[in-house]
Amino acid sequence: MSDWHELAKVADCPPNSSLERVIGDRVIALFNVDGTFHALDGICPHQCGPLGKGQLADCVVTCPWHGWQFDVRTGAYVLSDTVKQPHYDVRVEGETVLIRFS
Ligand code: FES
Repeated sequence: MSDWHELAKVADCPPNSSLERVIGDRVIALFNVDGTFHALDGICPHQCGPLGKGQLADCVVTCPWHGWQFDVRTGAYVLSDTVKQPHYDVRVEGETVLIRFS
C-alpha cells in the first residue's frame, strides 16, 4: 500500500480533461479518458513543456508548447516508436486517484 501515493481527487479531473500535479520532485500529468485515468511524466521530452496542461483529444495529448503528441494510455509518441514518455500505474480508491511509481 505504501507504494501508492495520492495524486488527486476524482472530481479534480473530470472526463476528457487533464491536470498537472507535483509529487516530491516529479511532475505528473493526469488524464481522464471517458472515466479512465492515465498518468504520464508531465515534462515533455522535447523541450520540457507541461503535458498536464496540454489539449486532450480521445487518448492523445498535444503538448501546449510545440505540438508533440502522446498516447496517454502508453506514453507512446505518435510519430515515432523511439520516443516513449514514462507511464505510471493509477487506480481509484473512493474519491481519490492514486499513483504508483515503479
Ligand atoms: S516542449 Fe513539448 S512539444 Fe516542445
